[in-house]
Amino acid sequence: MICLGLETSCDETALALVSGGRLLGQALSSQEDLHAVFGGVVPELASREHQRKAASLFRLLLQRTGMDPKRIGAVAVARGPGLLGSLLVGVNLAKGLALGLGVPLVGVNHLHAHLTAAGLERELEFPSLGLLISGGHTHLYRMESPMDFTLLGRTLDDAAGEALDKSAKMVNLPYPGGKHIDLLGRGVEPERDLFPRGNVNNPGLDFSFSGLKSCVARHVAAHPELRLESLPEGPLEDAPEGLRRFCASVNWAVADTLRIKSGRAMDAHPDARRLVVAGGVAANSMIRALLEAACAERGVEAVFPSPDLCTDNAAMVAWLGERLALAGLRHGLDLEAIPRGRP
Ligand code: KG4
Ligand code: ZN
Repeated sequence: MICLGLETSCDETALALVSGGRLLGQALSSQEDLHAVFGGVVPELASREHQRKAASLFRLLLQRTGMDPKRIGAVAVARGPGLLGSLLVGVNLAKGLALGLGVPLVGVNHLHAHLTAAGLERELEFPSLGLLISGGHTHLYRMESPMDFTLLGRTLDDAAGEALDKSAKMVNLPYPGGKHIDLLGRGVEPERDLFPRGNVNNPGLDFSFSGLKSCVARHVAAHPELRLESLPEGPLEDAPEGLRRFCASVNWAVADTLRIKSGRAMDAHPDARRLVVAGGVAANSMIRALLEAACAERGVEAVFPSPDLCTDNAAMVAWLGERLALAGLRHGLDLEAIPRGRP
C-alpha cells in the first residue's frame, strides 16, 4: 500500500508518502520564522499559513517522488491533539483527497505517531514504554503494539518543552527557546538545587512543570543581569558564564524530572525492555544523556528517533496511517479534529 500522510497540528505543514513502512518522500514547510517574531505560535496565523501552503505542498510531493496520485491507497491525517484551526486544514484537505482519489481516510493520533516514528528507521519491538516530550505535551505510555497505547502519566500543567521555552523567554533567548537552553548549557556544570523538580516526591507518573516556571521567574527577577539584550552574535561560548549556568540548571531540573519518572515507569513495567523517547525535546543533549543512563542502569534499550523524526513531520503520520489502514481502520468523511483530550 502507498499511504499519504498529512500533518498540520501546530506550526509545520507537512505531507509524506510511505509504502511498506518505508518513506518514499516528503514535503515540509516550517512556520518557525513566522512565529518567532511573536515569541510563540499564534494559532490564527498558523491555520492561515497551513491553508496557504498545504495544497501546493501536495503537488510538490508528487513532483519530488514522481508519484502518480492514482497509486495512493490511503490518506492518513493527524486529527489531534493540536491547534483546532490548524488541524481542520489538514483534516479537510485529507477528506478532499480521499474523496477525490476514492481511497480510505484514516485519522491518526499525533502523539502516537511521534512514538512510532522510529518504525521508519528500525523494527519496533513490544511491549515498550514511550515518553513523548514536546512543546505541548509530556506523556508517558506503555505500548503493546503500534495501535495499543495505555497512558501511564502526563503533565498536570505545563509541558517539558513549554517549561524550557518559557524559561528561555524570561532571559530573552529566541523562540523556540528549548534549543538555546540546550546549546548554552552544554558543557556547563548545573546548580542542581537551584530549581525544583516538580512532582517527583509524589507517587505516580504524572509530571508538573509549572512550579519550575514560577521559580525561574523569581530567580530572573532577582538576577536581572541574566537577561540578554539580544542573542550573542559571536560563538555561543561567548555567552556570559552566569547565563550558561542558568541554562544548564533549568535544563537539569527538567531532565532529572524526566529521568526519575521514566525510571519509575521502567521499574513498574519490567517486561518492557525499551524506552522510546520522541517529540522535539528528545533532541536535548542533557535529557538524552540522563535517560540513556537510566535505561542502561536497568538493561533497557533507549530508542531515540533521529532529530528530523523527533520534530513534527508527516512521515510519522503516514507510517502509522499505513499500519492502521492495513489493520482495517477506516474513518468516515465526518472525521472530526480532536484538539484536546483522548491522548
Ligand atoms: O515536537 P515539537 O517539534 O512540536 C510540538 O510541540 O509538537 O517540539 C517543539 C519543542 C519546543 O518546545 C522546542 O523548544 C523543543 O521542542 N526543542 C528542544 C530542543 N529542540 C527543540 N528542547 C530542548 N532541547 C532541544 N535541543
Ligand atoms: Zn508534535
